[in-house]
Amino acid sequence: MLKKEQLYEGKAKKVYRTDNPDLYWIEYKDDATAFNGLKKGTIANKGELNNLISAYFFRLLAEQGVESHFVEEKSEREMVVKALQIIPVEVVVRNIAAGSLAKRLGLEEGTVLSCTVVENYYKSDELGDPLINDDHIRALNLATPGQMAAIREIALKVNDILRAHLAERELDLIDFKLEFGLHNGQLLLGDEISPDTCRFWDKNTREKLDKDRFRRDLGNVEEAYKEVYRRLTGR
Ligand code: TMP
Repeated sequence: MLKKEQLYEGKAKKVYRTDNPDLYWIEYKDDATAFNGLKKGTIANKGELNNLISAYFFRLLAEQGVESHFVEEKSEREMVVKALQIIPVEVVVRNIAAGSLAKRLGLEEGTVLSCTVVENYYKSDELGDPLINDDHIRALNLATPGQMAAIREIALKVNDILRAHLAERELDLIDFKLEFGLHNGQLLLGDEISPDTCRFWDKNTREKLDKDRFRRDLGNVEEAYKEVYRRLTGR
């Protein structure tokens, strides 16, 4: 397979065409942004770590029946994926209150939620990804009710699989964000699953091992991403 011209550059990844119209070539960058691009920086080796961690999670999910766009790794910071028409809805799954939920509802970070909470956000940089509900999704024709029902079911299954897997590695899965898309009409999990898009806390010390270290200037950002990779793979 050949890497062709760049199609798109996002905040954390570059997307290239390949000689196969069904496949894209993704390159993960060290660039980091927060607060809708207001805060900018780099995290050393983040591209490699997020590529390797995402590949690890996509393989784990595939073994348990959750299909994603992931095809194969191409290098330490590159993977090939199935080309998706992205559904512009970011799906956040929360087990423990943190971040914007803690702020919006006046909860202390770390409060265990009585049930898992699934939220939808409109994927729009201009609007700053606002929280939306099922009616907004229908009114804007972002996805069909059938697609959203399937997305919710997959998101909850991903939560069960990741939460159990991480618990065995002394990590709490606080919350995470997923994106979905269509590939030849088939609904697939897309984007990435990494410390950029999840919150991971050490089960015992409650230390944050994710992008909140960058967002909040907590230091040791690269070390936190490496620690997640080490807990998953032993490397
Ligand atoms: P939030 O608490 O800031 O809404 O974030 C919820 C989860 O979604 C958290 O695990 C981080 C992830 N996330 C992204 O992947 N991209 C984003 O742009 C934001 C704001 C959050």
